[in-house]
Amino acid sequence: MNIVEKITRLKKEKDAVILAHNYQRDEIQDIADYIGDSLGLSKKAAEISCKTIVFCGVQFMAESAKILSPEKTVLLPRKEAGCPMADMVTVDELKELKAAHPDAKVVCYVNTNADVKAECDVCCTSANAVKVVQKIDADKVIFVPDKNLADFVSRWNRDKEIIPWDGYCYVHEEIRINDVKKAKELHSDAVLIVHPECKREVIDLADEVLSTGGMVKFARNSNAKKIIIGTEVGLIYRLKKENPDKVFYTAGPARMCKNMKITTLEDVYLALKEEKYKIEIDEEIRKRAKKALDKMLQYV
Ligand code: 13P
Ligand code: SF4
Repeated sequence: MNIVEKITRLKKEKDAVILAHNYQRDEIQDIADYIGDSLGLSKKAAEISCKTIVFCGVQFMAESAKILSPEKTVLLPRKEAGCPMADMVTVDELKELKAAHPDAKVVCYVNTNADVKAECDVCCTSANAVKVVQKIDADKVIFVPDKNLADFVSRWNRDKEIIPWDGYCYVHEEIRINDVKKAKELHSDAVLIVHPECKREVIDLADEVLSTGGMVKFARNSNAKKIIIGTEVGLIYRLKKENPDKVFYTAGPARMCKNMKITTLEDVYLALKEEKYKIEIDEEIRKRAKKALDKMLQYV
């Protein structure tokens, strides 16, 4: 039996479902039951019925699945698959900022650890951040941890004061204005779509600003035949597979998230075989974090 057959057999035996983020390695995307963005995968984790979820992504995503579905075993095949941006804000630091702005509500990007989510009023993802902030009942909003997403959100919520955290995604931060300009010159008949974790100067060059799930839909539904993609390179595999008649380019040099690429087929096999690494969250923290995620799911 090859490794894919072994994974398929174990999946059946353990009543497991494999969820994978759009940035995962090609071969992981190929074996996943569902591929998606953070919002899509959170919704899927909450609604599917199975005993075990193998989450091929990073820690905060697997945690979100566990927060929403505590009765399921949620496995993260590589325990060191974290998100550096999520680690840029701690509970103590956030508490300090909250104390300085007692009249503000706190919106946290899903790219946060569970204990930080527990300190927030509502979560958001890149797919719904603008809407979540629009809907929140406050004039002042603390937004953690992504300063670029906070800036993007503030441009669509001019009636609210947004207090950003100083975090960022190193992958999107590396997408540079001059490289993007060159890509546009080189492919002048292509449209440019970028992720809202990009810097403002890059966002200003774009035709559309979308989550990875939004990019998948755009590629499917748009008449554009040539599209420049301003996000982590892993998404392009899915875009090409689903749209063989279209051409996709990176917005400058291909940018890769090493945390997203750490998980291999061998890791998925071992995760299923040895039931590792189980996500465990303190029940009191989980309940408070769930409120923030539930509120987001109610809003959008
Ligand atoms: P989305 O897929 O939700 O757009 O998020 C991108 C990302 O950086 C996840 O780590
Ligand atoms: Fe975190 Fe950025 Fe990697 Fe997403 S792409 S996991 S935000 S470092």
